Amino acid sequence: MKRAAAEIVPLLALDRAAAKPLYRQLYEGFREAILAGLLGAGQRLPSTRSLAGELQVSRLPVLTAFEQLLAEGYFESRAGAGTFVARSLADPQRTAGRTPSSRQEPRPGPRTVAANPGLPLGRQEPWLGGLGAFRVSQIAVDHFPLQVWAGLVARNGRNPRASQMLYGNPMGDRRFRETLAAYLRTSRGVRCTPEQILVTSGSQHALTIAARVLLDPGDEVWMEEPGYQGARDALAIAGARLVPVPVDEEGLDVAAGIDRSPRARAAYVTPSHQYPLGATLTASRRLQLLDWAQRSGAWILEDDYDSEYRYESQPIAALQGLDRDSRVIYIGTFSKVLFPALRVGYLVVPTDLVERFAALRAAIDDFPATLYQAVLADFLAEGHFARHLRRMRQIYRERRGVLVEALRSELGAAVRVLGERAGMHLAAVLGEGAQDRRLAERAAQEGLWAMPLSVCYLGEPSRAGLVLGYGGTGVPEILDGVRRLGRLLREG
Ligand SMILES: Cc1ncc(COP(=O)(O)O)c(C=O)c1O
Repeated sequence: MKRAAAEIVPLLALDRAAAKPLYRQLYEGFREAILAGLLGAGQRLPSTRSLAGELQVSRLPVLTAFEQLLAEGYFESRAGAGTFVARSLADPQRTAGRTPSSRQEPRPGPRTVAANPGLPLGRQEPWLGGLGAFRVSQIAVDHFPLQVWAGLVARNGRNPRASQMLYGNPMGDRRFRETLAAYLRTSRGVRCTPEQILVTSGSQHALTIAARVLLDPGDEVWMEEPGYQGARDALAIAGARLVPVPVDEEGLDVAAGIDRSPRARAAYVTPSHQYPLGATLTASRRLQLLDWAQRSGAWILEDDYDSEYRYESQPIAALQGLDRDSRVIYIGTFSKVLFPALRVGYLVVPTDLVERFAALRAAIDDFPATLYQAVLADFLAEGHFARHLRRMRQIYRERRGVLVEALRSELGAAVRVLGERAGMHLAAVLGEGAQDRRLAERAAQEGLWAMPLSVCYLGEPSRAGLVLGYGGTGVPEILDGVRRLGRLLREG
């Protein structure tokens, strides 16, 4: 009893009815008491037997808690003397800011983050608040062949090869890349071998990797104006200086780019279906762009995000297939053709850069997860993908037709429709002076998620309008949505 004062047990509120085991409650109680300074460094602890008696619990949870606290360095035992709060915890650095006895509140250090001006600040735009009508980048979820897909997921999940469970190739799964290379060669006109394919977590990741390999901070990069915000962010975080280059009905104005930034390190383009206005980069512009890249030593980042869906002709062949100097880095994604939450995209990398890309990818996240690659390899090889594309092309063609017609009949001359020949969105360009942000904000309040065209500009917007996604919007919602947009527009 003489030692009682030194062994006073902190107030440990044990709840015998709680789901949390008693040993855990004891462990946490002691740890909190130490960190709060209620138990001082070097202070003696009662024996496990007497503590168990005092708390009226069995000895086992007390022993378990003590073992854990000893293992984690909160307690120390001295032979023959008992158990103590570790003396090393007297070091103020270890309990910094937690000791009530220290009179002065510790002054917090500065919370500095990278000064990179390109870091995105996070967009809380109202038109990104929901997943309903007109939201761009949505797919027709209810038409996805879920049964086939689920069967392949189950099959591959049940019988993984050892190589699918261990560390793998930073470029991705061999079988998937072989299947993908065959598809890209025949359907997209991409010249590639499986070795050139790097599987990524969507095209956003692909762009980030490409920017890290190809660019130094401060390098100029041509950016389509208006263009894709996702690409802007990916390039900006690599420290690129973005040079807006206007697009017209022939796509990127290459001459304007050469005029503004002849020595740019790279150009970001969406040649098959310019995002968001929808032009197809003409053959002469393609050759002009490749010629500039070859002469100046620039890289071309070709984002081929939705070209499989083309409604009035065959899909446009990739720019990469025309490239004779390995200047094009081709970026593809399954986000539009399957579903975005899959997070599978890919890069086709020039052969001489494969090692650099693989090394960088390994440093970022080792390699892509294997399950969906195996599922996708089967989905492509067994013909499900081609069948799915054919079906979806029909569905999106119908939705597109209904949207275009509704815009014409409801809004007439107030809008000009652009980019409706391909993809899953179009641009409804409004007359000069239109306040597209305000319109989109009011639409969002009604559950219509139209994106204002002006936010796609880096510089002063030269056009206003709405970018309307129809992939995930059924025919009745399209008709109802356009009626409501018409009313909002007339209300001004
Ligand atoms: C121009 C463009 N590129 C790429 C993507 C797809 O991005 P991810 O593959 O990262 O889902 C989108 C989706 O909206 C897009 O609009």
